[in-house]
Amino acid sequence: MTEDLGKIMVIGACGQIGSELTETLRDKYGGERVVAADKCTDPDREIVSGGAYEILDVMNRGDLKALLDKYGVDTVFNLAAILSAKGERDPQLAFNVNMVGTYNVLEVSRELDVDRVVTPSSIAVFGPEVPPKETPDQVYLRPRSMYGVTKVAGELLGYYYWKKYGLDVREIRLPGIISYKTYPGGGTTDYAVAAFYDALKKGHYEFFVEEGTRLPMMYMPDCIKALVSIAEADGGGLTERTNYNVGSMNFSALELAEAIQKFVPEFTYDFSPDYRQELADSWPDSLDDSLAREEWGWQPEYDLRATVGDMLENLARKLDGDVNVDLKDPVHS
Ligand code: SER
Repeated sequence: MTEDLGKIMVIGACGQIGSELTETLRDKYGGERVVAADKCTDPDREIVSGGAYEILDVMNRGDLKALLDKYGVDTVFNLAAILSAKGERDPQLAFNVNMVGTYNVLEVSRELDVDRVVTPSSIAVFGPEVPPKETPDQVYLRPRSMYGVTKVAGELLGYYYWKKYGLDVREIRLPGIISYKTYPGGGTTDYAVAAFYDALKKGHYEFFVEEGTRLPMMYMPDCIKALVSIAEADGGGLTERTNYNVGSMNFSALELAEAIQKFVPEFTYDFSPDYRQELADSWPDSLDDSLAREEWGWQPEYDLRATVGDMLENLARKLDGDVNVDLKDPVHS
């Protein structure tokens, strides 16, 4: 059984995930049921002109409350966040947007009696102390980034609002997200997107992590499926509420480079780790997501090969075909 989301607001709708989530929700629920909110103003962007759109800074609690009230919102998706790498450059900003922003969303939702709040947590909640392979949901959390600290606190705050006020808060721990529509901004896992762009545009990519760096990753269609599924899931079956691991695939940077090279044989690459290596090293290789599978039917669809093929096909189209890639005849090694 799935639940209807009623009137929906997506906060952070201009971002990598928010833009595609909004598009999916507009298609599924109808444009009149979905309000997008963020700070971008470019009228050429589909997100701004393709349906209801409001300018919002999630740190402004008064504006947030006025908008939720104006539209009679039942379900809030909060995607506004400063990711891990940018967050290490400016920890104060990451604290404010991620922590104060999350608090504002929860508090205003409580005040207005919103039905539910859905927000992503992240693999960044984990620190190097946890078992790196098939990391369980319930482990000791001591993240090494401000982003991770705010995500742990967001999980705990969400659980607190659920237990104390009965606010229906749902959170999933997303891995690195690969997509071609909106470029990610400021994450450690961005190399897994940038490698595709540079493979097609320059024929070469310099990874900012070591070749052996292995992280959990997910293709955007699975990410959207996970967010919509947890939002629509029968609340009675959700025991953990705010700390579900969601796994999909995992691969090393070298494995990704080799997978791209099968489609783009002249693609070359090298590895020059920078400050983001330490963040990547502090995160797990893979996740145990059995609870998400049991409680709300989580099931990813894309593996590495399917992801690489689909990414290159769509990115080549987006980049106007001005690239050297034969999608129908990948080189198998
Ligand atoms: N993609 C995020 C980052 O790299 C992790 O959740 O910061």
